[in-house]
Amino acid sequence: MKRTGGSNEAKRRAGEAAADRVTDGEVVGLGTGSTAAHAIRALGRAVDSGLDIRGVPTSFQSRELAREVGIPLTTLDEATPDVAIDGADEVAGFDLVKGGGAAHAREKYVASAADRLLVVADDSKLTDALAGPVPVEFLPDARAPVATAIREAGGEPTLRAAERKDGPVVTDNGNLVFDCAFEAIDPEPLAATLSAIPGVVEHGLFVGLADAVFVGRADGVERRA
Ligand code: 5RP
Repeated sequence: MKRTGGSNEAKRRAGEAAADRVTDGEVVGLGTGSTAAHAIRALGRAVDSGLDIRGVPTSFQSRELAREVGIPLTTLDEATPDVAIDGADEVAGFDLVKGGGAAHAREKYVASAADRLLVVADDSKLTDALAGPVPVEFLPDARAPVATAIREAGGEPTLRAAERKDGPVVTDNGNLVFDCAFEAIDPEPLAATLSAIPGVVEHGLFVGLADAVFVGRADGVERRA
């Protein structure tokens, strides 16, 4: 479940601290969500002050915001990101659950392509062990067999419903999302199991991808690397 309890101020501190690490000439993966949005706005201000960067957005939402704040955009066909900055729903060490915004497929391949992933999160996202639910994006036509395979893997899938209208959430890629509850999450083997299910596009377990975590708190920001 997307955790929404963190303060906007803590999110802002985390996002701005990570944006500060971006240097001239870099290509930047632009994550999705309210914390990543603070980083995008900070990068927009830096571009106004002369920073020369190009952004690779991970969602419709981050592309719109990047355009609004004046970050020149590029694609993975044209450039390899030096760094990606993205939020998370849960952070246990350097392992993450992502996908609260249903953007985890793009977020994962942009972060994987980048030389380094800087995670930005308020301290409400920190946990000793990932608990989920784990978002799983899947091809709509494969709904029944994907649900069966997730149950066989010990999970209970719930189709993510749209908040503001009837019907399911549809991702930027035209797919659907199951939020999958598990009694316990062993990140690496579960990630491999979910990736191997035919019809699954991507799941929200990010294992071994993060290089640093910027934790925003009420009184400052802590960098874990
Ligand atoms: C989107 C994500 C987001 O990064 C995650 O949900 C965190 O969002 P927020 O910063 O708004 O709490 O994974 O798919």
